[in-house]
Amino acid sequence: MDHFRYIDGKLFAEDTAVEDIISEVGSPTYIYSRRTLTEHYARLAQAFAPLNPIVCYSIKSCGNLAILRSLAELGSGFDVVSGGELFRAVLAGGKPSSIVFAGVGKTDAEIHEALDADIFLFNIESEAEFWNINRICGQRHQRARAALRVNPDISSAGTHQKTLTGKKETKFGVDIDRAAAFYRQAAKAEFLSLTGLHLHIGSPIKSTQPFVDAITKALALIDELAREGIIIDTLDIGGGYAAFYEGNEAPSAADYAAAIVPLLQGRRLKIVLEPGRSISCNAGILVSRVTYTKQGGRKQFVIVDAAMNDLIRPTLYESYHFIWPVQPGVALQPPSRSSELRTPADQKVDVVGPVCESGDYLALDRHLPSLKRGDLLAIFSAGAYGFAMSSQYNARPRAAEVLVDGKHWKVIRRRETYQDLIAAEL
Ligand code: LLP
Repeated sequence: MDHFRYIDGKLFAEDTAVEDIISEVGSPTYIYSRRTLTEHYARLAQAFAPLNPIVCYSIKSCGNLAILRSLAELGSGFDVVSGGELFRAVLAGGKPSSIVFAGVGKTDAEIHEALDADIFLFNIESEAEFWNINRICGQRHQRARAALRVNPDISSAGTHQKTLTGKKETKFGVDIDRAAAFYRQAAKAEFLSLTGLHLHIGSPIKSTQPFVDAITKALALIDELAREGIIIDTLDIGGGYAAFYEGNEAPSAADYAAAIVPLLQGRRLKIVLEPGRSISCNAGILVSRVTYTKQGGRKQFVIVDAAMNDLIRPTLYESYHFIWPVQPGVALQPPSRSSELRTPADQKVDVVGPVCESGDYLALDRHLPSLKRGDLLAIFSAGAYGFAMSSQYNARPRAAEVLVDGKHWKVIRRRETYQDLIAAEL
């Protein structure tokens, strides 16, 4: 699952003591394990190897350049959703021929940037967008390739309302019952060739069946189109593979592949995958220091120096992140992620930040050993949509990011300063 381990009552990131990093860098800090990141990438790439896919890591989950470079070195392509992410992908050494661009609202400027870079594929989300990109290609006398994001109307994805995308009446893609007509119309376009189909049904999808259902619907559509002479040569099956938050709740890359690969093997389709969370989530922890403890009514609060601006997932999606002290001592090291160790000293606490909102919490009613001012806490499974979704709310400079590689580590993003808070203001 990851390379964060308790050894003799102390938390290590690979072969580096977390406390040693924090004593130099301070808190709150995101710490990533390079080995975890690259292993998760390699497992997925290996599991799907029979399809010879382009694996396009989803930058939105964790987009630090050092992270992207580590993945580009392994041959990863990139899934981008903005001009900014495209900028990051190219800077990190991503090959344009392995870059796919999704998103419902690509602006003309972003479309020009993607055409300048000559990316592999535009993932199209509406008729209006398709014809706009075709028009811009025409102005530039440039051809480009596109896939239609089809909304397969899968309701069983079992993910949080705010991260469900493959159901009718979400803003994503084009309804599957309108897709064939779309392809017929698009066949008339002069510059943008719509020869791909794109799916992304939500995130995280903790079982394989919704993928099977969505891909089966997509293949039926591809066959229907083929009978009319419209040939689809690229199938982008999106991301959404689960990660480990509570324990062993996520299927492995091999489990997903066992369900998906047989559906696609032998088909003449270039397959694209867009994994984000399954690669970056377990590769990162957020480390925060206890500032105060206090009681409020019957509640015990542990106030820490990280907040909803650093990790918004608990507030936004009621998501669970395992939390445990960095130096709990030998007796209190957690036997496993999901079983919070109960001891006579333990207590049920809310772990909260200093931001002025009652929604500012990292955990509610959580069993933790007794904590005191100065203790460090590790918030696990924070690599995906952690730093990436952080903000400066309450004028809080963003946390530092550190990448560990065995015994070595480096700061890959320095802690922001007060000057950074006002740098863009005129
Ligand atoms: N492809 C597309 C078109 C997507 O929209 C997404 C994620 C991905 C790939 C990558 O999905 P992943 O493999 O990471 O599950 N902030 C939320 C998750 C939002 C996901 C948005 N789209 C969270 O923290 O849970």
